[in-house]
Amino acid sequence: MASDLVLGVDSSTQSTKAVLVDAATGEVVAQQSAKHPNGTSVDPRAWLEAFDRATDGLLPRASAMAVGGQQHGMVALDAAGEPVFDAILWNDTRSAREARDLIDELGGPDACADTVGSVLVASFTSTKLRWLRDHEPDAAKRTHEVLLPHDYVSRHVTGGEAFTDRGDASGTGYFSPADNAWRPDLAEAALGHPVSLPRIAAPSEVAHRTASGLVVGAGTGDNMAAALALDVQPGDVIVSIGTSGVASSISDTRIADGSGSVTGFADATGRFLPMATTMNAARILDLQCRLLGVDHDELGRLALMAPSGANGLTLLPYYDGERTPNRPDATGTWSGLTSSTTREDIARAAFEALLCSLADGVDLLTGMTGVPAQRILLVGGAAGNPAVHALAPAIFGAPVTVPAPDEYVALGAARQAAWALSGSTEPPTWAAATAETHTAEPTPLVREAYARLRDRTADWS
Ligand code: XUL
Repeated sequence: MASDLVLGVDSSTQSTKAVLVDAATGEVVAQQSAKHPNGTSVDPRAWLEAFDRATDGLLPRASAMAVGGQQHGMVALDAAGEPVFDAILWNDTRSAREARDLIDELGGPDACADTVGSVLVASFTSTKLRWLRDHEPDAAKRTHEVLLPHDYVSRHVTGGEAFTDRGDASGTGYFSPADNAWRPDLAEAALGHPVSLPRIAAPSEVAHRTASGLVVGAGTGDNMAAALALDVQPGDVIVSIGTSGVASSISDTRIADGSGSVTGFADATGRFLPMATTMNAARILDLQCRLLGVDHDELGRLALMAPSGANGLTLLPYYDGERTPNRPDATGTWSGLTSSTTREDIARAAFEALLCSLADGVDLLTGMTGVPAQRILLVGGAAGNPAVHALAPAIFGAPVTVPAPDEYVALGAARQAAWALSGSTEPPTWAAATAETHTAEPTPLVREAYARLRDRTADWS
């Protein structure tokens, strides 16, 4: 008898990706995608249209589904369930001042991390609610319910009561990882009046069953879904190079980092997902490609033709503000440009900047958890570039394992759906992704040059 099919959806910053997967083996039988509008604030209804296009023909074949989504985005809805304002996304820095105000109201950085798991930055949903209260008071007053992107997309399928999971809830700034529960008082304090929040479903719960019998899992944040797909265990560090750059690991105990470098998120299995996140990752390469008039493959080829250290050229890639370190008003900085600088040097410096920024994230993460990286798993769009394979082990100073490129967020959502469908206590065991391991001689001088530029610019706005 053929086994059930499950649908995993990744509603990401740039597009919706849907994978139809065999629930027993994890084998992908079909996949589709649809683009989202650009921008750091968008009409969230565009995600619903993209969902419909990406899942067209796939959803009717699925026995279960779940949605992984970009974390943090504020979807503020009126009493009829319509957006009162554009969704403000994780990479929108307009609420940096509001983040500082809310930290003060919570009693300072340590108290903030202890209460909501993380020191707030502009990415967190609560800071966007406060911004709405102060800058768009009419929209704020009409806000009846606040959802996260993945909850909003799930409800498009289920109708009725909205639901979320503790992983995505832990990125709002009004969830307590210690109590595993909402802090509705903090959402109210941010927005100025009480709001309806989605029910928090358990990791493997059948959060909803549609009239046609489709099982819908809780869904989760994109980083939690990727960790579930990769079956990450303590000692593994995932480094993801997508729109954001992420270094994350699994922990049985919760993290509360008052320095603000590591966010103490919950994961999608009942454990925790401490994480260091940068706002500038794939876009470092994107901009360089645009400026040099080449594609990513050619940028990689150019980079590999320049020497380590790019003949003294160093880039600090905090283009439209950065979050790790917390410099919401920063811009990018080049250092060491000379009249002999080549296109190859410029390409090399872009890859080195990307990897140094991620290496900073790995150091902050392992420094906070106290668990050294036993295995670094590199995923995300740029993880397939040969220049990344050559430079990442040199800059991280450790071997790097690159799982075969795949839609890991959508696959994690599919695994969650299969888990809900199975009714068992553990997620299904699927074959591990095939992976290549890359090694290289460490190049500490590249990191030292980057660190000097980073520290020298610390008080530039
Ligand atoms: C994590 C974060 C990003 C988004 C990207 O805190 O803001 O990784 O989840 O979609």
